[in-house]
This record gives sequence, C-alpha cells and structure tokens, in this order.
Amino acid sequence: MGFQKIKSSRSLRLTLRFVIPLIVVMTLLAFLVVPLVDKLTLRWSVRDLDMRSKLITSTFQEPLGDLLVQGSSKKINSLIARLTQDERLYALGYCDGQGKLLYHTSTFPKDVGCSLPNSPLHESPALVRLPQGLVHVAVNPVSIDGVPTGSLVLVHDMSYVERRSSETRKYILILFAILCLVTSLITVLVAHLSWRGWMTGVRALLRGEGLIKPFAKSSNSELQPLVGDLRALLRTIDSERRIADDVTSSWNPDALRDLLYKQLAGEQILVVSNREPYIHMKGKDGIEIHRPASGLVTAVEPVMRACSGIWIAHGGGTADYDVVDKKDHVRVPPEHPDYTLRRIWLSQEEEKGYYYGFANEGLWPLCHIAHVRPIFRTSDWQQYVAINQRFADAVIREAERDDPVVLVQDYHFALLPEMLRKAMPKATIITFWHIPWPNPESFGICPWREELLQGMLGSTILGFHTPFHCKNFLETVDRYLETRVEHASSTISHGGNLTLVEAYPISIQWPPPWQESQPCIADCRAYVRSTLNIQDHCLIGLGVDRLDYTKGILERLRAVECLLENHPDMIGRFCFVQIAAPSRSVLEEYQAFDARVRALASQINLRFASPGYLPVQLKIEHHEPEEVNRYYRAADVCMVTSLHDGMNLVAKEYVAARDDEEGVLVLSRFTGAAHELYEALIVNPYHIEQTADALYQALTMPAFEQQARMRSMRSMVRDFNVYRWAARMLLDAARIRQRGKLANRIGMQL
Ligand code: F6P
Repeated sequence: MGFQKIKSSRSLRLTLRFVIPLIVVMTLLAFLVVPLVDKLTLRWSVRDLDMRSKLITSTFQEPLGDLLVQGSSKKINSLIARLTQDERLYALGYCDGQGKLLYHTSTFPKDVGCSLPNSPLHESPALVRLPQGLVHVAVNPVSIDGVPTGSLVLVHDMSYVERRSSETRKYILILFAILCLVTSLITVLVAHLSWRGWMTGVRALLRGEGLIKPFAKSSNSELQPLVGDLRALLRTIDSERRIADDVTSSWNPDALRDLLYKQLAGEQILVVSNREPYIHMKGKDGIEIHRPASGLVTAVEPVMRACSGIWIAHGGGTADYDVVDKKDHVRVPPEHPDYTLRRIWLSQEEEKGYYYGFANEGLWPLCHIAHVRPIFRTSDWQQYVAINQRFADAVIREAERDDPVVLVQDYHFALLPEMLRKAMPKATIITFWHIPWPNPESFGICPWREELLQGMLGSTILGFHTPFHCKNFLETVDRYLETRVEHASSTISHGGNLTLVEAYPISIQWPPPWQESQPCIADCRAYVRSTLNIQDHCLIGLGVDRLDYTKGILERLRAVECLLENHPDMIGRFCFVQIAAPSRSVLEEYQAFDARVRALASQINLRFASPGYLPVQLKIEHHEPEEVNRYYRAADVCMVTSLHDGMNLVAKEYVAARDDEEGVLVLSRFTGAAHELYEALIVNPYHIEQTADALYQALTMPAFEQQARMRSMRSMVRDFNVYRWAARMLLDAARIRQRGKLANRIGMQL
C-alpha cells in the first residue's frame, strides 16, 4: 500500500513536471500568435479591398462616364444605388475634379470626404473607424475618354474582417488547447513508459542480470556499453565511498561490532572453514587445547569474537568429540566464550579424499606456482563433493533464518557457495580464497574446472588477497564458463545471479595479542638464547612457517649457507632459527619436503658449526602463538621467502610484535604482503645470492634505518588490520543486501 502511494505520487510529480511547463509554453505561444494572425488578416483584407475597389471603379467607369455626359442625376443615383447592393460595399460617392461630393448613396458617412483620411488607422490610410464600425475607404480617379473628371469614393464595410479575426482567434486558441492536451498526453505516456523501462532495467541490474538481458534477444547490443558504463560508474562511486571509509575509520573490535550493529543488525553470521580455531587434544594430563598454525584462523578468529556467530569446522582433534554437546557445539574461546564452534566429523577415508587428496594434492599445488604437480583422482573429487555437501547441510541446519550472512573460507569449499545458494537463495555468501588464483592456462588442467568455477559463483562476494588474483579469476571464468564477465566492474553475471569479485588483503589483529602480557624485548631475547643455547654476540635470524614446499624454506636455508660462504665474518656471529609446524605430513610430498629441509639444515651445520655454535636450528614442532611471538621479539631478522603465497601473515605478525621498532623483515616478492610492506627488504627467493645479500644487509642495518622502516610498516599493519579486512567485506555485503531488498520491493510492486 505504502509503496503504491509512493508510486502514484511519483507519477503525479512526473506528470506535473512535464505538463505545467508545456501549458505555460503553449499559452505564451498562443498569445504571440493571435495578434500576428490578426495583423496579417487585416493586411490581406485591406489589399483585397484595394483591388476590389479598383476593379469596381474600372468596371463602372464607362457607364458612369456616359451618364455624367448625359448629366442624368437620376440615372447616376440609381447606378450608384445598384452598386451598393453588394453587401460589402457599404457606401459610394462621386466627387468632381474639385473634390466636391456630387453624388452619393444615402449611407455615405459624413466623416468621409473626397480624399483619404489624414490619421491612418492600423498603419493603413484606407481604414477609418466610424461609429457603425471599421470601414475601408478607397478614392479612385475616374476619367472619360482619357480625361480625368473626378473620383469614385468606395466605402467597404470591414466588420466581416473583424468577425473573421475573432473566429480565427477562437480556432487558434482551440487548436493550441488541443495541441497542448495531445502533447501532454504523449509526453506523460512516454515519460511513464521510460520510467517503467528504466525501473525494469534497474531491477534487472540489481538482480544481477544487467540491462542487457531483456535486450539481448532483440539484439540491441548497442546498449551493452551503456550498461557497462553504468556499472563502472556505480563501482567508482562505491570504491570512492570505500576509500573514504578506509581513510576515516580506525578499525578495532568495537568498531567492527558497531558496524555489525548498524549495518547488519539482527543478521546471523556463520563462518565455514576446514580448520577449526581450537583443537581439543588428549594429553598426558588430560585434555589440552591447541591453536593451529593457520593464517586463516589467525585472521577469522578475532572477527568471530567480535560478532559472536557460529563457526562450522572439521573437528579433527583427538578429544574434540568429548567436549561437544548434543548439537556438536562447543563455546569458545575456552577462557572467555564469545561464539559457538560447530564441529563436523569426517571419517579417515573422507578426510583422505576431500582434505589430503583433492584439496591438498590437487587444488593446493594447482593454485601455488611452486612447481609441484597437482594430482587429481576421481575418488578424491567424489569425497570433495560429498564433504562440501555435508558442510552445506550443516550451515542450512544452523541457519536461524533464510538470509544469513555466510563467510566461506578457502579452497576446501569451492562447491559450497552454489550448494548454499540453491538451498537459501536469499543468503549473502562471502567466499574468501586464502591462496593465490593462477592464470587460466594453469587452472585449466583441473579436470573439474567448470564445476569448481560454477560452485564458487554461488557467492555474492568472492574475495582474494590481491587485484592480480581477482584478474586471474575473472579471466579464468571468461575462458571456461558461459557467463558475462564485466572486467570494469569486476562482476560476473550467471544464471540470474551476480558475483562481485573483489580484493580484500587479509591482515592480523591490532593491537597484537599478548602485547600487554609479553615480556620485554630483552627478556624475550634472553629466553630464546637460553632455550636454544645461542650466545649473546650472535645475531638471530628467524623463519616461521607450516612445513610446506610453498614457503621457500629450502631456498631460505640456501641463502643462509650462501651468506656464511660469502661473509665468513658471520660464521659464529649469526644463527638461523626455523620454526616449522608439521603440516599435512601424511602426504608423500610433505614427507619428502620434511626430509629435504632436515638434510639441508644438517649439511649447513656440518659445514659451519663449531663447539657452542649451530648456524641452523630447526624446530619442527607445534608452537603456541604466544611462544612464536616471543621468537618474533627476539629475532634481529625475520625471513619470509615463500615461492608463492596469498598474503603471508607471518610477515605482518613479525612487524606487529616489534613494538621496539627494531628488527628487519626480508620478504619474498611473491607474497601478497610484499604489495603492502614496501619497507621490507624485498627479494626473489629463487635468486639465492640476492637473498643472501639482503640477509647480510639486514644483519648490518643501522638501528635508525631499522626503526624508520619498522615504524612505517607498523603503521600500515595497524591501520589495515584484520578488523578492516572483515569490515570491508561486511560493508560490501550489507550494501548488496540493502540493494537486494530494495530490488525485491520494487520487483514485487511493479
Ligand atoms: O594458506 C591457506 C590456508 O588455509 C591458510 O589459511 C592456513 O595457514 C593453511 O592453509 C592451513 O592449512 P591446513 O589447514 O591444511 O593446516
């Protein structure tokens, strides 16, 4: 009802906006035209009567001449009377050569003489206004046998001209009124049709079909660039607004909560990931709680704490099952529960096919350019499909309404967005791909490439770390699917849905956790030195990774070896500590990698170690984040040398841990972080000598330079923290939801 009212008042406004100016213009026109027509009618009538008078004079000149010669007054008067039977000729008179009126009809006006009046009326000397009305006077010379004898005065009644003028005026006004009415009707009709067409277009656009769809069949392809421009414009406006958001807001848990309250009030937020944020393990002294080495968990956990939703993940810990309730729920974080963890159970076979097989032997090497060949097995694919469906079913069961906001995490769930979209068309699905996206050729080797892409396009928003990964994804979809890819607006239209593909560089929590509780830098150094038996004069280099072939750990160790070769003064003065969390160790590739890392470390130690000095210390075991933080604070240099990495949060964690503003970061150019942390020493990890030189530069960098670089990187990580990452995605989601709701309303009413 309300919308109907708005619609009719909009129509009324629209009508008035067109019609009132039209009426004004038409009236002005009428007032200009009518006097003009009057003037012209009068002029034409005067000319007609002039000619008519001359004609009458020449016709009657001869009989009149004869009668004048005969001097027959009676006959002359009767001739004159006959002539005035013409209804227009009102009076007639004959004047002699001296200008004396000799004969005239009884109607001859007193005010008219033998010559034309002196004061012209209407700029015409022939017109005279008499009490009985307007008359036309013509004085035409009369001659007998070529000799002028006098003149004939003809007085024509002009009242018919006035009658004709007023009639013409009436018709003109009627004509203008009709014209005005018809034009108004046409204008209103066209305006309404255009408005409806425009609204239909906007509705289609909002539905993600674009304006092109209705026109595509009628081959109106010239409209396509227009729609592209429109979308690009909308996108520019959006991105400008986003930049403004970015610059003006400082993001922290409270700001994120505020955003959720204002923009997504009452909306349910669900997160889906394979890795769970808390793992319950059976230990010697009972159940222990571990926090996994995972960039994903590092980033998403603080967001979940802020928004208190439900996190659905694989329950992989040995004691996970023992702590959940009937609904497989457990409240976390254990020390201060803020949100619910819903665990999903997988059999060993399922985990083997879905997680180790398809996700980590297939998609992981497919997306990372680390020169490890992907392995694709049909049995793994089938498990991947089945487990995606299991997680989708869990989301649907946990959803309290039909339009929740679902945050899907990573390459384990490429199919899940489409599964959710089918079951919950109104859901806002934000998928974040935490690893790189390769170019179309590389991705094309996957036997199920179309299914994966199709699955991902169930997302409302698809996020990558960098614009380059977004570009690769758009090109891949363009290459393999029948969709409409708008590169300018970074959107993909498919089956009536629209997916926004956007870069959201992930980050970490700020202020960093444990900032208050951590020992000072000197104490952290002392702790690490005593734990690892590192002498006081020895500089410490640090690497922190999962034990994964994409992390460039071998290249890093080779660079350490190269440094010791090229700078023997560093032998005994530099020790490199590699913390490596065991990862995916059931896979052969990872086992082989583990062996190679250990072998290379031993080889370096064999070459350069001396009593009390071990150049490389490998710590291949799980470390809790607080402990890792102490290492960050103790290290003079942190080396992040990934061969390919979506973002790499270790780089940001190191920067965040250094509140003393010292320490140097050596960072691979093939990480997403290298696009943000410009003050790091950026290296190509494949170039061993270059990396070794950078390491040397880091170890010898003066304190003031370290501080300048670190200060700048810290402000970057502080401002672009994980709350901003989440806020940007949620803000986009909120905008899209609002547009969707508006589109539905318009769609229902029109
Ligand atoms: O890099 C992608 C990612 O999902 C990270 O977020 C995380 O660090 C890692 O993989 C976790 O791997 P997994 O869960 O297999 O141990």
